[in-house]
Amino acid sequence: MSHIESLFVTHLYREELGGGSRRLLKDLQHSCRVIAGDDGAGQNWAMAKKYPGYTSYASLNDLPERDPAFAELVEILDGHVAEFARTADFDLGGRRLSINSIWINILDPGGFHASHIHPHSVVSGTVYLEFPKGASAIKFEDPRLPMMMAAPPRKPRARSRNQTFVSAEPKTGTLLLWESWLRHEVPLNAADSERISISFNYGW
Ligand SMILES: [Fe+2]
Repeated sequence: MSHIESLFVTHLYREELGGGSRRLLKDLQHSCRVIAGDDGAGQNWAMAKKYPGYTSYASLNDLPERDPAFAELVEILDGHVAEFARTADFDLGGRRLSINSIWINILDPGGFHASHIHPHSVVSGTVYLEFPKGASAIKFEDPRLPMMMAAPPRKPRARSRNQTFVSAEPKTGTLLLWESWLRHEVPLNAADSERISISFNYGW
């Protein structure tokens, strides 16, 4: 009897932060809008870079100190990232992964975020706060793609483990984690309203 093992697995960790986190998610939604409205430097950055919406990525590096809802979120994220590290069998030499950046993304209708990785980090992720109907899923790319010189394309209904691109459709309250080298993009936001999320990086 033959046996096929899956080697070099790429982990995508998913958790629905419902129930007990409902109040926190509401607080974060409110905070994101208030902070975006107050952050003139961030708005100017988005304008200068033609970013279709708002991000605090380049303007604010103190969200957990600035707002208790973010501090509460980071406590929750710490637990999930530790679980991710256990699942991936990371040998952290007695240390743990800790957050090195966290930022707000408000993507306008028609906005998108081109393919990228998150350098200088180990685990990256996103929590979705507002994910309206028609909003774009996050699309991950097989990191071996540049080596697939003569590899056939995959069938449209291929199992996700065999696909070269995998889209994860979040809901409000979904948390996704992945290793920071994994290339991903947000295709065009076809929703009529803003797509709001919080992204973050953990380092070692
Ligand atoms: Fe990203």
